[in-house]
Amino acid sequence: SLRFGGNPHSQVWFSGHLGWVHDSLFPLQDVGVLEYQAPQLAAACLAAAFQGSCEEAVVLDVACGTGLAAQELQARGFRHLHGLDGSPEMLACAHRKGLYQELRQCVLGQEALPAPEGHYDIVLIVGALSEGQVPAGVVPELLRVTKPGGWVCLTTRRDAGNLRYEAELRRRLDELEQQGAWEKVAAQEVGRWEKAAQGLGYISGVVYLYRVEGGAPDAARGAFEGQDLALEDAKQQ
Ligand SMILES: C[S@@+](CC[C@H](N)C(=O)[O-])C[C@H]1O[C@@H](n2cnc3c(N)ncnc32)[C@H](O)[C@@H]1O
Repeated sequence: SLRFGGNPHSQVWFSGHLGWVHDSLFPLQDVGVLEYQAPQLAAACLAAAFQGSCEEAVVLDVACGTGLAAQELQARGFRHLHGLDGSPEMLACAHRKGLYQELRQCVLGQEALPAPEGHYDIVLIVGALSEGQVPAGVVPELLRVTKPGGWVCLTTRRDAGNLRYEAELRRRLDELEQQGAWEKVAAQEVGRWEKAAQGLGYISGVVYLYRVEGGAPDAARGAFEGQDLALEDAKQQ
């Protein structure tokens, strides 16, 4: 069932999950109000480290919503974008933007990702790894559909309501790294991630970037030393 809340953050419920509407019904007002910048931060992090051809890379945008991450990726030269989301309404908005070659409905946590093993050069999931949305248990699925040597970019929030989830996510990410499945290229902490939905101030968040086994992670990590983290520190002043 779909229900639009009347509060300024326009919550939308579907299949028992909480998502945010930022589409033509609530034209950019919500994300503007919250200063939602996760898509931009994730795309910038990925583009800074990615070593292949942006024009040839095939990208899966998981929980794509209305396509904000696709806009940011297109602006940075990425051309082959596939999206999936659990909400048909979100997918309809994404479709209208004409940024994706493929869009599919998939409720993560209930269904496997509709892609074969090792299919994508890049998999990203932005603004959806949090309590009540995409379960942290989906992480191995993200890895499964990524090519050896491919990239997985994830974001999560560090507000009080998401601490348990965030710890669980981190545990899963670390576990896969310990198993040698991938290597962490960046963990970009951002103090002013977005405005707190209730009250004053900002919540913090993080962009993680992993290189799947089979690539050349050392060279990629070099792209982040000093420069990008310093940039984020400056933003938080
Ligand atoms: C805050 S929005 C982020 C959308 C987009 N990635 C962005 O950054 O603009 C969260 C998205 O996750 C989707 N979502 C939440 N839980 C989901 C689930 N279990 N399976 C699939 N999609 C889900 C929602 O429909 C919504 O589009």
